[in-house]
Amino acid sequence: MIIPGFPHLLHGADYNPDQWLSQPEVIDEDFRLMTLAGCNAFSMGIFTWSAVEPEEGRFDFDWLDGIMDRMAAGGHHVLLSTLSAGKPPWMSLKYPEIRRVNREGFREPHIKRANHCWSSPIFREKTRLINLRLADRYAGHPALAMWHISNEYEGECLCELCLTSWCNWLRERYNTLDALNAAWWSDFWGHRYSDWAQIDPRNVALDGLTLDWMRFRTVQIIDFLPWETEPLREITPGIPCTTNFMGTHPWIDYSAIARHVDVISDDQYPRYDSADHDLPGKAAGVSFKHDLYRCFKPDRPWFIMESCPDAVQYRQPMRAKRPGLHRAEMFQALGHGAEGTLYFQWRKGRGGQEKFHGAVVDHVGHEDTRIFRTVAKLGHNYRALDAIIGSRSTARVAVIYDWDARWALSLSQGPNVTLDDYTLVAVEHYRWFWEQSVAVDVLAGRWELAGYDLVIVPQLWVLAPGVAGRLREFVERGGTLVMTYFSGVCDESNRRFTGGWPGDGLREVFGIWQEEWDILDAEHAVPVSWNEGNSLGACGAGAAQRVCTVIRAEDSEVLATYGGEFYAGTPAITLRRCGAGRAVYVAARLDAGLLGSLYGALGADLPRALPFPAPPGVAVQKRTTDEAGFLFMQNFTSEEHRVELPAGTWCDPVEGREVSNSAQLEPFGS
Ligand code: GAL
Repeated sequence: MIIPGFPHLLHGADYNPDQWLSQPEVIDEDFRLMTLAGCNAFSMGIFTWSAVEPEEGRFDFDWLDGIMDRMAAGGHHVLLSTLSAGKPPWMSLKYPEIRRVNREGFREPHIKRANHCWSSPIFREKTRLINLRLADRYAGHPALAMWHISNEYEGECLCELCLTSWCNWLRERYNTLDALNAAWWSDFWGHRYSDWAQIDPRNVALDGLTLDWMRFRTVQIIDFLPWETEPLREITPGIPCTTNFMGTHPWIDYSAIARHVDVISDDQYPRYDSADHDLPGKAAGVSFKHDLYRCFKPDRPWFIMESCPDAVQYRQPMRAKRPGLHRAEMFQALGHGAEGTLYFQWRKGRGGQEKFHGAVVDHVGHEDTRIFRTVAKLGHNYRALDAIIGSRSTARVAVIYDWDARWALSLSQGPNVTLDDYTLVAVEHYRWFWEQSVAVDVLAGRWELAGYDLVIVPQLWVLAPGVAGRLREFVERGGTLVMTYFSGVCDESNRRFTGGWPGDGLREVFGIWQEEWDILDAEHAVPVSWNEGNSLGACGAGAAQRVCTVIRAEDSEVLATYGGEFYAGTPAITLRRCGAGRAVYVAARLDAGLLGSLYGALGADLPRALPFPAPPGVAVQKRTTDEAGFLFMQNFTSEEHRVELPAGTWCDPVEGREVSNSAQLEPFGS
């Protein structure tokens, strides 16, 4: 259960009553509409520091007390936010040090939001004190269900205080400047440092330095977090803490932050559109993120903190969300282990940058809108789905997703892989399983491979100490490991391994070494075909795009071969038996057909949510308890599809009727 003792799916929104305090009739109406919409959880208080402390030391909690009491009376749960994302203007002006210094060396004025310095002792203390007050005031309040820490932590600060803490972190990490210079290969362009204070995080000449700065940005968030959470945990130990993440954010390693919160929540705005040329592809990418989130804390459900029931105003053209797509988006999260979905935002404000951002309640102010009806219907659907609470999915396949590898690869000049490409490639490998209704765990951070049959490692560019050994052990114990090009290229400082790569002993595991790479432009494709009589029994042909690496098979079977360029006839996919398992190396970015034949052969025995293939574009997820199984079937196409069901007694809990041996899914239907 996300909220201890509350065995229901969460359904609700970001609620900003502070914007409407002068119109109490609007707030009265909100409470009527909340019940009508089947909502039970509201994330509140996010940008209210200046409402709660309008002047330094003068507090006004009366309005918030009133709303909290009404929430409790309405049977709603409040995910009460801490206030650090919206520091008040008086604070910014009185204490300039709390404002960030940007890359150009300028201290930002009081603009936007969330741009506070991570290290400022004043801001840390102000945050701690206001959190103490919040916790003191609302401890034991029947509406308080969870602490929502700040809002979408992100960003960097380069002020003196942050630079000092960067130096301290480096000292701790490297101990001596000699070790640091060696790790960063700093003789390059003569960047050898002789004093810690010389190290400017903007020095992009040394990619090892930039990689450490990326790591440090996450460390700063983790370092700031206890100033928020400690007072809350001390005074309200039973109330869980979450902070809303942002999918696969490029600069924050959420796998590290996940360890410091109690519940995982995500902000997801996939912006599904029936006009998308590959909606199933987009949906597979969203499922991938959901599986990543599910796996951050596999024993606890996660939830969507923000999503949008309609269009978002910052996307052009601002096409209205087509019927069915919102329900599909929300059910998709549930299928992947979420136990609640909240929206940004409950009601559109009258002013400010987000006044046209989609919301449950439009400016018209009543319930007679398509969006409100969609949300309210979903709210009522959710009530029929309480039985899924506590159900889990089990996967025998894992895909490794690694922020360090993502950063190091994109920081390295040469491979031409962007931060987004890294994720896209991981999704390409995930997609076949998604299409075949095979559950996949997406593992980031400190992963454990025991229990998986198949582990896929796309572009694990850097190898932290011990990683190669754990991969080898997985294979030797009988697992099948698929690793792609651009894996094992560098050590954790982004220094290239010498003596052939993949390095750190993986060359022996795979029985290959990589000699050259050929980075291709978008129009270029190199034919690849399966070798006749290969031990996987795979057949057919396809193409490699974007990246082909030229490898030498030393002690491995060549499964597939390039059919073009100067490397025609050389291996594109290899396999080596190692201990009780198999190590498969994929040397190029293969098209979907080739990946399909590879995984079709390797994954033939994996358990599927559906024993028969689902129609293309229909995704099926399974969650189970000891007593029951729940299938989430979703049609991400504009045609109707009939899906065969496995033998058994099935019912549609939403419609409250038994389903025979197949189910009809309308376009974008769930
Ligand atoms: C999120 C943010 C919300 C709101 C929303 C609009 O990133 O947390 O406060 O701005 O975007 O889509």
